[in-house]
Amino acid sequence: MRTFRDFVMHRWASVGRRMPRYAGPGLLVALALALAGARVFAANPVNASADNGNVANSAPAGADAAEIARGAYLAKAADCAGCHTAAPRVTRPGAAPMLSPPFAGGLGMTSPFGTIYSSNITPDPQAGIGRYSYDDFARALRDGVAPGGKRLYPAMPYPSFARITDDDMHALYAYFMHGVQPVATPAPETRLPFPFNQRWVLMFWDWAFAPRGVFKPEAGRDAQWNRGAYLVQSLGHCGACHTPRGPAYEERGYSESSAAYLTGGTNDHWFAPNLTGDRGAGLGRSSAADLAAFLRRGHGGGLITFGSMVQVVEDSTQYLNDADLAAIAVYLKSLPPRAESGRFDGRSRAAQQTAQALKTGDVERPGAGIYASYCARCHQMDGAGVPQKYPRLAGNPAVLSSSTTSLVRLLVEGGGSPHTQDGPESRKMPSFAARLNDREMAHVLTFIRNTWGNAAAPVTAKDVSGVRAALHK
Ligand code: HEC
Ligand code: HEC
Ligand code: HEC
Repeated sequence: MRTFRDFVMHRWASVGRRMPRYAGPGLLVALALALAGARVFAANPVNASADNGNVANSAPAGADAAEIARGAYLAKAADCAGCHTAAPRVTRPGAAPMLSPPFAGGLGMTSPFGTIYSSNITPDPQAGIGRYSYDDFARALRDGVAPGGKRLYPAMPYPSFARITDDDMHALYAYFMHGVQPVATPAPETRLPFPFNQRWVLMFWDWAFAPRGVFKPEAGRDAQWNRGAYLVQSLGHCGACHTPRGPAYEERGYSESSAAYLTGGTNDHWFAPNLTGDRGAGLGRSSAADLAAFLRRGHGGGLITFGSMVQVVEDSTQYLNDADLAAIAVYLKSLPPRAESGRFDGRSRAAQQTAQALKTGDVERPGAGIYASYCARCHQMDGAGVPQKYPRLAGNPAVLSSSTTSLVRLLVEGGGSPHTQDGPESRKMPSFAARLNDREMAHVLTFIRNTWGNAAAPVTAKDVSGVRAALHK
């Protein structure tokens, strides 16, 4: 059975890549649905900090307080609140309470086919999941099938949640039944036009692509590595953004046994970089301690998180304990270099020469002048940034990535570093949409990708205009 499925997966993938128009109509619909799901997942625009008032006061019935507390922690690790809480909300710690009730769903996620709303997953018996048995809950999370046989769009990351252990699933269930305040307002119904409303078609997608079976510890690895692998592959669903997607928008692998796993993916015009040991655009030069700090505060080794990773840190990873963050870092650091791109050599002669030239203002290269007038005030002439305030650009893997989508988007929209419980104050990166044209953006990006010892492919004005057109900005 397993080999047959693998065979079909392989066939489908290769058919899709080479000649998509020969796929049967059923497959095409499944494909489109998968696409909808993936895009929707990606477009997840709003996340929530559900720390305020999400714990019901009622005494737990049938589940002990420790189990509920463990479930609450696991719900953070899985970022359930991020997708299941509607806007508007407040993420800044210590700010006014959230305006939308946590877990009541209704977060609208735009897809090319219409809006998909996340479900109310509070324990209200009518509007929420109060009538779910444990088995209903586990099936929805692992197989993407709600009671009554309703297939969920893969906007809900069930392919990753399939790996959640029974123990953790029980704790999550206890938390959602007894630790979350019920909300009686139903989430708006998702109404996609035909054929995208034909949820049953997702059966084929699930059959071909969704992995089955809970996480099995790797015998040759120690407990810390296995804990990290488990958190990354199951609850953390890191691959949903960091793994490239195939022709049906399936993630190309769900564990390190797949060559493409965590080698970088683009979702909603943010490129989530290569997390393998690549020494250029990957994590090869980052220490485990820096990675743990990055996940806790959004700051690590001079890097600062930006783009869609900001919400992951604010809503999820900042709440993980030190042991779990260390385990994730150890697991990521164990991934061998794959899909290598970009290089960094801070001690090269070229690096020394540019450093000298930048100091004396004596640089003729296109982009250098723009960098000096618009960027150096924060990122500094030597590209080293300012600790706890502005990221370094020298040797920064995100700057060296094979895809420049995130870099363009950040220049166009600007950004803000994350607000966390014990991290540095949030700082803004201004938008340059009104100040730099496509050619100037291409020049300054090419400049930062090839200065201070950085070496990565140039960025063209066409690359910039492509991303701007897609963003409508
Ligand atoms: C990346 C976004 C995302 C995350 C993270 C997420 N969900 Fe969902 N979930 C969704 C969306 C979107 C739907 C609705 C899908 C649909 O209508 O097909 C959904 C549906 C569900 C449903 C089905 C409810 C029903 O009957 O309609 C349950 C149960 C659920 N989620 C529980 C959870 C839990 C528990 C977690 C955390 C462990 C979680 N989800 C994390 C996006 C997410
Ligand atoms: C919603 C999409 C999304 C999810 C889910 C996600 N990431 Fe990210 N991640 C990104 C993006 C986009 C970036 C690039 C911006 C940056 O460097 O902060 C990034 C950057 C990173 C970086 C820095 C990489 C570098 O080279 O600078 C690390 C480390 C990381 N993510 C780890 C994780 C881990 C671990 C998880 C799972 C717990 C995870 N991410 C889940 C989108 C995501
Ligand atoms: C006012 C200070 C400021 C200026 C001016 C500025 N930046 Fe930034 N930059 C930041 C901050 C703050 C971040 C972190 C943003 C985030 O977390 O969303 C950042 C992030 C970045 C990143 C992502 C790197 C990372 O690891 O976070 C790049 C690339 C970047 N800036 C390039 C530029 C370029 C190119 C210019 C000039 C055109 C520029 N910046 C001007 C403050 C600034």
